[in-house]
Amino acid sequence: MSKQPATRAITILDIQRMKESGRPITMVTAYDYPSAKATDEAGIPLILVGDSLGMTVLGYDSTLPVTLDDMIHHGKAVVRGAKRAHVVVDLPFGSYQSGWKQALASGIRLMKETGCGSVKLEGGQRSAEAVARMVEAGIPVMGHIGLTPQSVNALGGWKVQGRTPREAVRLIADAKALEEAGAYAIVLELVPTALAHMITQRVSIPTIGIGSGPFTSGQVQVFHDILSIQQDRVMKHARQFADVGGTMVDGLRAYREAVEDGSFPTAAESFYMDERALELIRRMTPSDADDMTHAERVLREANEAPDARVEESLAPVEQQIAD
Ligand code: KIV
Repeated sequence: MSKQPATRAITILDIQRMKESGRPITMVTAYDYPSAKATDEAGIPLILVGDSLGMTVLGYDSTLPVTLDDMIHHGKAVVRGAKRAHVVVDLPFGSYQSGWKQALASGIRLMKETGCGSVKLEGGQRSAEAVARMVEAGIPVMGHIGLTPQSVNALGGWKVQGRTPREAVRLIADAKALEEAGAYAIVLELVPTALAHMITQRVSIPTIGIGSGPFTSGQVQVFHDILSIQQDRVMKHARQFADVGGTMVDGLRAYREAVEDGSFPTAAESFYMDERALELIRRMTPSDADDMTHAERVLREANEAPDARVEESLAPVEQQIAD
């Protein structure tokens, strides 16, 4: 008989019900096992393995160099760390723009190889066919409109989108196109508050805002921004809820200082060996030997090895002495 998991994983239907019941949806990015585990433990229902990892963990200055293999590598680690949260993985730049067939192939790889619950891609009307084909194939898709970072060069920089009537009408049409194509939710990035509110009222699926005000169905933020891990990346729309970056530097500095002043490691942080073993090894070690003898090697290994290995490595030494 199969065992029931302790906690049920969150599905896209749970996310959609949250909009229906007026419960705000929280989403945050995570890029590896520990960040996913912490996010899950904090009770956050949606994790995005965003291609923002290009900037936050890989050190690029945009998301453009991120590959599908990068997303799969990080996606797998996040899925291992998230027991309850629904994990969404981004389709990176170049993995879906050539048409729906490429999008479908990339979406299938992400689902198959990471074990994630859904995928996200950027673009409204221009991506609608790709969304429809993926949904048809059984891949839940989250849309992303407004400031779409993969088009940062075409948009002329990191700017708020939809401020003019023409742009606003286009964004509303983009949201509608994604809803019709079967997307289960839409990220609205850097959209003015009033327009984000209007879009949220005009589509039935949840809208998840970033820099788009408080009237969306939920909020998404970048892990490194809200925990202030990368202290040179400060965004107007990202509140710093903790100073993890500062704590990390403080901890690392304290470690270096303890090594340098000899206070680390202490006896309690070290491992010791059997007196009998030590005596045997002393007898095997000529005090003036320059070369590393067998016994010295055993001593070195014994200091690092678990007990079973110590016993095993001592056996030939004991035998030699007995002979
Ligand atoms: O890649 C990312 O982190 C994102 C969020 C900003 C929504 O797409």
